[in-house]
Amino acid sequence: MQSKTIELGVFTGYSLLSTALALPDDGKIIAIDIDREAYETGLPFIQKAKVEHKIQFIQSDGNKVLKEFIVNGEEGTFDFAFVDADKDNYINYHEELLKLIKIGGVIAYDNTLWGGSVAVSDEERWRAI
Ligand SMILES: C[S@@+](CC[C@H](N)C(=O)[O-])C[C@H]1O[C@@H](n2cnc3c(N)ncnc32)[C@H](O)[C@@H]1O
Repeated sequence: MQSKTIELGVFTGYSLLSTALALPDDGKIIAIDIDREAYETGLPFIQKAKVEHKIQFIQSDGNKVLKEFIVNGEEGTFDFAFVDADKDNYINYHEELLKLIKIGGVIAYDNTLWGGSVAVSDEERWRAI
């Protein structure tokens, strides 16, 4: 069955290219970013790697697209998501992605270990603010 994935936060496409290279030839990545210019800056490298056919770029706000997918009946149809967009929205992305990713699928978040914050207690975190 075709692998279907989502990337939130593409920029110039470094992580997008990595996912595209790892997917089988008929795999698909929905790549979402508000910034098309950055995506197009990296596009020649994606083309050179011959993986452009796996990518559908959508210029939009990530949360808006995820909500549209749910309305369009795409719940439980994605195998993998990589999230590397605006960090304040991670909690909102997570709620929507839990609906969109299949049972047994994987959601990966960039920067989750940033500054060691996952290892500190709530008390220490508040003291640092
Ligand atoms: C850290 S960069 C992504 C880097 C990329 N994943 C990589 O590894 O090369 C974050 C990107 O998130 C995008 N972004 C920020 N807010 C967004 C939003 N609300 N919806 C979609 N993309 C957003 C920015 O335009 C930026 O290109």
